[in-house]
Amino acid sequence: MAGYVVVGTQWGDEGKGKIIDVLGHKADYVVRFQGGNNAGHTVVVDGEKFILHLLPSGMLHGNGKCIIGPGVVIDPAVLLKELKTLDDKGAKTDHLFISDRAHLIMPYHVELDKLQEEASGDKKIGTTKRGIGPCYSDKISRKGIRVVDMLDVKLFSEKLKENLEEKNVLFTKIYNAPKMDYEEILKESKKHIELLKHRIIDSTPIINQALDEDKFVLFEGAQAMMLDIDHGTYPYVTSSSPTAGGVTVGAGVSPRKINRVIGVMKAYTTRVGEGPFVTELENETGEWLRKTGFEYGATTGRPRRCGWLDLVVGKYATMINGLTDIVITKIDVLSGLETIKICTGYEIDGKVYTTSPASTESLSRAIPIYESLEGWKEDITQMKEYSELPENCKKYIKRMEEILGCQITMVSVGPDRTQNIFLKEI
Ligand code: GDP
Ligand code: IMO
Ligand code: MG
Repeated sequence: MAGYVVVGTQWGDEGKGKIIDVLGHKADYVVRFQGGNNAGHTVVVDGEKFILHLLPSGMLHGNGKCIIGPGVVIDPAVLLKELKTLDDKGAKTDHLFISDRAHLIMPYHVELDKLQEEASGDKKIGTTKRGIGPCYSDKISRKGIRVVDMLDVKLFSEKLKENLEEKNVLFTKIYNAPKMDYEEILKESKKHIELLKHRIIDSTPIINQALDEDKFVLFEGAQAMMLDIDHGTYPYVTSSSPTAGGVTVGAGVSPRKINRVIGVMKAYTTRVGEGPFVTELENETGEWLRKTGFEYGATTGRPRRCGWLDLVVGKYATMINGLTDIVITKIDVLSGLETIKICTGYEIDGKVYTTSPASTESLSRAIPIYESLEGWKEDITQMKEYSELPENCKKYIKRMEEILGCQITMVSVGPDRTQNIFLKEI
């Protein structure tokens, strides 16, 4: 056992939470390395649904430890609420630790996210309005407040004061919005500090030692390839690096310590928020996919935009992440379709592209080049073996594997942790 990374290969919501939960029972550590509570990771256990935003999806096993790593942005109020939800359900929570290097999402970040989105009109990103972008902006501008600052209330109060003074100028002078109250934020923060301080650790040596001792460390990606700040459909992206490289930066481990990179790929494509989406189906088929796949955001409840599987995106994700394995999810949703399409290229201004171009403007003019495959009618949600799958479903999987040039290790055929077909050992 060693370092395994699980990443999203599309625009998020591929089913990463479920896969982390499936692999998590044997993990010594499950570590989040980027993003924040913009994530919504669903885990279904015996019919009961848990949606995790900040907590790693390994929480429900309780065998290993769960760590919110240095590269994550933490909203303490949200974290405490999530912990309480698990506590109320009788689940174990004392195995959750937070890195002292992680940055804190403060109430003014959430407010700024909302104000920026509202002021952007039709140029809005469609963020989750959880304060992610403003918090990462402060981190990069070296103004952020970190978890370690919670351990020195005087320092914390000073940093809060400086930051809020600047944000209040923005609120009143730029956005014509009311000021936020320092005393009120400080009072709430002090409560959060009391409730969280026993979970604060320096996670970096702990994770590295575990890897050196050949323990099983599972790194849980949030968001996905096309939402990556550097490689996604900029500016319609999130503010972190959800690709495999993000692990080394966000958890503080060398790339040499990562043994497998598992890409989670939905059998079709969805996207929440604005931005180009070449294979989007704004028609009955798209609506059918949304209804059949229950494609509504786990964080914001927004309807997800739906379309055919885009293997230009898939190949790009395989390359940038250096995927060693692919897990296909939600292939059960496609049962009943006469024909299923796979996008293998884009045509933009008469030129064929097989990799995603940088220009968002060009991407919005891209015409998908499709390959059509025959569908299948059978309900596959109770199948346990690859051999049981309908022939056309197997052809779809094999064609994906052929185009992507990466082994497909597992096929998920339903939301429950037991609904899986393993093609190879994982
Ligand atoms: P994540 O953000 O990548 O963890 O994915 P989400 O939890 O946001 O969205 C995935 C949705 O699909 C959740 O409602 C899951 O319960 C569900 N899901 C995961 N895998 C499967 C699958 O193989 N089949 C079906 N039908 N649903 C699945
Ligand atoms: P999981 O981990 C899908 C999208 C938002 C928006 C853009 C920027 O559940 O797959 P942000 O709030 O991050 O500044 O929003 O990114 N987005 C996600 N879409 N799944 C997610 O997470 C997402 N996290 C952010 O909709 O388009
Ligand atoms: Mg999600």
